[in-house]
Amino acid sequence: MKILITQQQIEARIKQLGETISQDYCNSSLTVVGVLSGCLMVMADLLRTIEVPLNTAFVSASSYQGTRTTPGELSINDSLLPQLCGRDILLLDDIFDTGHTMQKLSDHLLRHDPASIRTAVLLWKPARNQTQAQPDYFGFQIPDEFVVGYGLDYNERFRELPFIAVPEPSDLHDAEQG
Ligand code: IMP
Ligand code: MG
Repeated sequence: MKILITQQQIEARIKQLGETISQDYCNSSLTVVGVLSGCLMVMADLLRTIEVPLNTAFVSASSYQGTRTTPGELSINDSLLPQLCGRDILLLDDIFDTGHTMQKLSDHLLRHDPASIRTAVLLWKPARNQTQAQPDYFGFQIPDEFVVGYGLDYNERFRELPFIAVPEPSDLHDAEQG
């Protein structure tokens, strides 16, 4: 697989993001809401670089199969969410692609009457954006290529890779075989 972003680059960038977020959220009531399952790695690593008190929570959303996204058919499961009224929510996902997932989740979380909502992602594909929104915090802008690793999957494979890579057709074929 072609490595697009190395483990060292991710580590350094996440440290910077953590510093920025710590400054922006000092004296706030921060709740980081991770979007399962893609948030797995970035949540674990980013939380350890944030130096202000925070709560954690998870929501799950899926709209996505194989290499295709199907905007408009997002299924949200918020049964794991705690009380968010008055909290400053930072919604955290692996990637901002068409933007529909973050936009719909943000709209959904507004019903919980939080004090504020911002979005953070490790990766952002600006060329694919189909919404008016942009992530408030992002690690790296990437070209319009399908990527895996560091939480990002293809058919639930490759999440465990410690880097971001562009899979070869043979890798995708193997993943389809299960
Ligand atoms: P969006 O709603 O189009 O922004 O898509 C966001 C979701 O699609 C992410 O949470 C990912 O699960 C998935 N996704 C988008 N692009 C990729 C990719 O390049 N690799 C793996 N998953 C992706
Ligand atoms: Mg995914």
